[in-house]
Amino acid sequence: MEPPQDTGKAGPRIRFDRLRIENIYTHFKWNNDPELNRLDSEVPYVEESFGTFKKRFERLIAHPDPGYQDFEIYDEENTLIGVAYVAGISGHHLHCSIGVTIGERDYWGQGYGKKAMQALLKHCFESLGMHRVTAEAFEYNDAWKRLVEGCGFVTEGTDRDYLFWDGKFFDRVRYAMLASEYGRGDRAPKRSRAIENRPPAPGAAA
Ligand SMILES: CC(C)(COP(=O)(O)OP(=O)(O)OC[C@H]1O[C@@H](n2cnc3c(N)ncnc32)[C@H](O)[C@@H]1OP(=O)(O)O)[C@@H](O)C(=O)NCCC(=O)NCCS
Repeated sequence: MEPPQDTGKAGPRIRFDRLRIENIYTHFKWNNDPELNRLDSEVPYVEESFGTFKKRFERLIAHPDPGYQDFEIYDEENTLIGVAYVAGISGHHLHCSIGVTIGERDYWGQGYGKKAMQALLKHCFESLGMHRVTAEAFEYNDAWKRLVEGCGFVTEGTDRDYLFWDGKFFDRVRYAMLASEYGRGDRAPKRSRAIENRPPAPGAAA
């Protein structure tokens, strides 16, 4: 599986790579950051020992889930600045969901998140041949909501009072983009092998 490529459009240059074991300390740091956890995960933060994390990380690299792709994001100076994922990849239904975390706060607000999102969308629609890509945002995550909406995702609904943090409930917003909405006006999404090799729908004539 080829990692996403920089889209070459305006913004900083980035490079994607697979998860690398030599970067385990950086991943451990981001994984044990309560603020990042609150922004990108609904799983309540629990401090994890390095030993437990190492086992999990090694397993992830050695036995990746076929429905899940994790990537490291590097800046133009080859500094590891974040991670991105494609999850729930269905080769039958041709849908998946995506997320981006710029783990290094110094890099927030400089266009890296947007560039990563554009590259991820290109990867999902043009390489994986997806028909539908979804994203979710917690109501307090203004940066992510703005990024997702600015990239052309359509709001499909709100899961009201979905999260409970510190004695208060928060909504989750659900977004999706269809292949027909991707790069609207730019170029038609390419059909990939995922579409050509798709098994017939249940009940379809042979
Ligand atoms: C959300 C995140 C990926 C955005 O990446 P970023 O590099 O900081 O954002 P960018 O500089 O590319 O900006 C993207 C858009 O968000 C807007 N934005 C950035 N920070 C913002 C903030 N704090 N509040 C409101 N909008 C903000 C930018 O103005 C831009 O919108 P525009 O193109 O309309 O001007 C990044 O802040 C991050 O990793 N946060 C922690 C983890 C997280 O929340 N992940 C998302 C859920 S998986």
